Amino acid sequence: MTFQDQLNAIKSSAEVELNKVADLQGLETWERQYLGSKGELTALLKQLGSLTAEERPAAGRAANAVKVELTAEFEERRTTLAAAAADQHLVEDAVDVTLPGRPQIEGVAHPVSQMIRELSDIFALMGFQTVFGPEVETGRYNFDLLNIPSDHPARDVWDTMIIDSDHEEIVLRTHTSPMQARVMEQTNPPVRVIVPGRAYRYEAQDASHEWMFHQLEGLAVDETITLTDLKGVLQELARQLFGPRRRIRFRCDYFPFVEPGVDFAVDCAICDGKGCRVCKYSGWLEMGGAGMVHPSVLEGVGYDSERYTGFAFGLGVERLAMIRYGIPDIRVLFENDPRFLAQF
Ligand code: PHE
Repeated sequence: MTFQDQLNAIKSSAEVELNKVADLQGLETWERQYLGSKGELTALLKQLGSLTAEERPAAGRAANAVKVELTAEFEERRTTLAAAAADQHLVEDAVDVTLPGRPQIEGVAHPVSQMIRELSDIFALMGFQTVFGPEVETGRYNFDLLNIPSDHPARDVWDTMIIDSDHEEIVLRTHTSPMQARVMEQTNPPVRVIVPGRAYRYEAQDASHEWMFHQLEGLAVDETITLTDLKGVLQELARQLFGPRRRIRFRCDYFPFVEPGVDFAVDCAICDGKGCRVCKYSGWLEMGGAGMVHPSVLEGVGYDSERYTGFAFGLGVERLAMIRYGIPDIRVLFENDPRFLAQF
């Protein structure tokens, strides 16, 4: 066999074998067999020396050309195989993003919190800002500034929980009304705020009474506020909460910090005022107390009661939540039983 024949044989067998190589490991073996220092082509190149001087240059060029060609084919094959290996990896390690996720256990806001958020939204549309105040209060804010001096019998109405204190009178606020004075002390009219929050009273628990409950206070003070503004705001509240057909009712009531004072009710949305279990067959749902801010309260915070008037109201939040969600007993709201809470 001539040198050229041998070269051709190596080239064609190398190319056939290269085509059969299936992975990078096989490619390494191939490289060693043909191009490596102990490979077939290198062995052939070593025989160049045994050729005649005339034959040698052409043979050398031919052998080199084959080496360059095989090396290029080897590189190309390596690129293809490396890409295939990477693809294989991707397939094997793939994450199926189309699989449905595992459901997360998600909490929900407590029905009382949901109610407060809904009320804040409704009042925000009427221009009321939501503010919060302390639950541990001084007697001054809970009573005195609300026109309930310490010798006043109305002080007993609130079944106050008292915090031991050596100097000042400290109580758990019995209503959210102390924030009326706190807000007015810190701002000049016009005032339009609502104050949701907890209130505490030492009283016997039953289906509609808890020693801790939530109120939502409302206060508006400006130059020309009248009782009709109060009525309009509460009427709008009733419509937003219970629908466009609702009517509201005012009856005289007494709270030392308003004059005149009223209790207000909405006609029952469930029976349309005809009478049912929810409204205890009265046709009306009691919502809370309200009235025109007493001049003494305005004067107490430094407002000119000749120039400014205002209205205030206090809603029972649990009661609204109970009506809204059909909850028969206030006590279940605070037992923290997940079987109850998960329903909202
Ligand atoms: N603070 C009163 C209560 O708890 C309710 C109320 C608020 C009445 C505002 C009039 C004005 O009973």
